Amino acid sequence: MESFRNRVDKNNIPKHVAIIMDGNGRWAKKHGKARVYGHESGVESVRSVVEGAGEIGIKHLTLYAFSTENWNRPKNEVDALMELLVHAIEMETKSLMKNNVRLSTIGNIEAMPPKVKEKLNGCIDALKLNTGLNLVLALSYSSKWEIVNATKNLVRDAIDKKIKPEKINNELFESYLNTAGIPDPELLIRTSGEYRISNFLLWQIAYSELYFTEKLWPDFRKEDLFEAVFDFQTRERRFGKISEQLIS
Ligand code: FPP
Repeated sequence: MESFRNRVDKNNIPKHVAIIMDGNGRWAKKHGKARVYGHESGVESVRSVVEGAGEIGIKHLTLYAFSTENWNRPKNEVDALMELLVHAIEMETKSLMKNNVRLSTIGNIEAMPPKVKEKLNGCIDALKLNTGLNLVLALSYSSKWEIVNATKNLVRDAIDKKIKPEKINNELFESYLNTAGIPDPELLIRTSGEYRISNFLLWQIAYSELYFTEKLWPDFRKEDLFEAVFDFQTRERRFGKISEQLIS
């Protein structure tokens, strides 16, 4: 079978793809290793998918790397994930630069350990002039946190008379979200055979196509991303209209 890379329609590439990277722990268990080994192997998948996304012209790739709820994991796993992030940023900045990738984050970055923040800021700064893929890491992120936070800031601005309540609409509300300025993802992928959204981009996925795969995240590679994009391209996106109303 020909590679999905050659089968995807280059004129219909989603601008924004979001991924819930799941199954690292189960992958490690399957291989008789500690959970952290699964996370380490997951970094390989991140590398491959970031490369692949750039190659087919995806503009924004959002990866759910650490959720607000993940803080409740055993301390040794949280510490290992933070270490891994620092290490991955150190190791990958050069190749991200070579691939013209920009880096940004969504989530409560203030909650991240100082070392992670420092590395992230260094990397974001080093890559800020790049014009290719925007890699968005969701860190200490949850959608309910984001929406509550946006509401807080919006109410504050209303009290300060910077906005009028009657002017509040979708666009204005979106400008208060962490994803302001980034188009909503057309495609959301979740690995590992779980059929949940897990508090990820709830506002932004109102009309996203959802793609679930049994593959565990450490087994996921760019070819799997191309397959998901190919599948996306076979779907009819109606946005509440009927087929006949769609302009082909
Ligand atoms: C979910 O698998 C994965 C995570 C909570 C962490 C994802 C992190 C990485 C892939 C590595 C670092 C990322 C970057 C961007 C460099 P799980 O632990 O929930 O797996 P399980 O459901 O099988 O237990």
